Amino acid sequence: MWGAIEHLGRDGRTRGYLRDAWSPADLELRRWFGQEAARRGLDLREDRNGNLWAWWGDPSVRPGVVTGSHLDSVRQGGAFDGPLGVVSAFAALDLLRARGFRPARPLGIACFTDEEGARFGVPCVGSRLLTGILDPDRARALTDDEGDSLAEVLRAAGRDPGALGRDEETLRHVGVFVELHVEQGKDLIHRDAPVGVASAIWPHGRWRFDFHGQANHAGTTRLADRDDPMLPFARTVLHARQAAERGGVVATFGRTRVSPNNANAIPGLVSAWLDARGGDEEAVRALVAELTEFSGAEVTVESWTPVVDFDAVLRERVVAAAGGAPVLPTGAGHDAGILASAGVPSAMVFVRNPTGISHSPDEHAETADCHAGVTVLAAVLEDLCAS
Ligand code: GLV
Ligand code: MN
Ligand code: MN
Repeated sequence: MWGAIEHLGRDGRTRGYLRDAWSPADLELRRWFGQEAARRGLDLREDRNGNLWAWWGDPSVRPGVVTGSHLDSVRQGGAFDGPLGVVSAFAALDLLRARGFRPARPLGIACFTDEEGARFGVPCVGSRLLTGILDPDRARALTDDEGDSLAEVLRAAGRDPGALGRDEETLRHVGVFVELHVEQGKDLIHRDAPVGVASAIWPHGRWRFDFHGQANHAGTTRLADRDDPMLPFARTVLHARQAAERGGVVATFGRTRVSPNNANAIPGLVSAWLDARGGDEEAVRALVAELTEFSGAEVTVESWTPVVDFDAVLRERVVAAAGGAPVLPTGAGHDAGILASAGVPSAMVFVRNPTGISHSPDEHAETADCHAGVTVLAAVLEDLCAS
């Protein structure tokens, strides 16, 4: 399976992945998902929001046990964030079938659309729409860097943007969701364990800071006459770091848009995206309030995800099926968190990442650890599908 997808959307220069939602690479990956489902005789469905579901058994008879993840990437992302969960889902199903296991409940493999929000800014668009957490009107109006709206992009991909929105029928099919994911930190290295289980997802969000100024000539405008928005932006970046250290949270400006973006012009507008997260929601909110005040920028919230505490009973079952794997919280967002916050019992299995690096071409997982992940996932699915 890795051999079939490793070249899709890969930048030959950096080896990083460019798998924006609904891009040609993403469409190829979705086709690949359909082929893998067909090869196994699974029933493939695409829901109203573009999420893919491959079913072994009929979930309209009885809600199923679902596993899977996403196939889109951040820009210049790694190979494992998302695809490891999808590949492992198919591999775990193969393992169960090879053992002659017959599930008592339908077993589904999901591929959520636009988990990263790399193109339209809002993460987990597919699961947020499915659960009704994201308003379909807002989703349709989201635009990418080319100014194309999600509605236009969906129409060009042959989908009906008018169909977006909470999908009761699809939700009824999902009795429980387990997402396997590459770890995006170093906890499992420190614990010397190939596999872990998630306890919680930190509250997190994205805010756009627009710093307005006056575009002007870089050579002829005296310093005293400038209204340069790069200066408050630079001060805000430094202040964010100090405030994060003080508040015990993390804060990142990882994306900027400078207008007009000329080396020889003072910018007229600097837009910068703050990503802020932490174990304590109040501390995250306090940091954003402090930066809003300090920056003098016009601040727009683009997404907010409250803390997710995964279902404790399900988590203990997953830990037991995993042979007592360590339990850890994460600062990364996932579709499993969105489903959990909408009331779907959900759990996550993490596979060790030898450097902890993620959202980078350097993201990695050793094959032996990936196999351990598949073994654990198969045991979890076997347990959940047994009756
Ligand atoms: C998703 O990977 C995130 O940004 O947390
Ligand atoms: Mn990611
Ligand atoms: Mn992911």
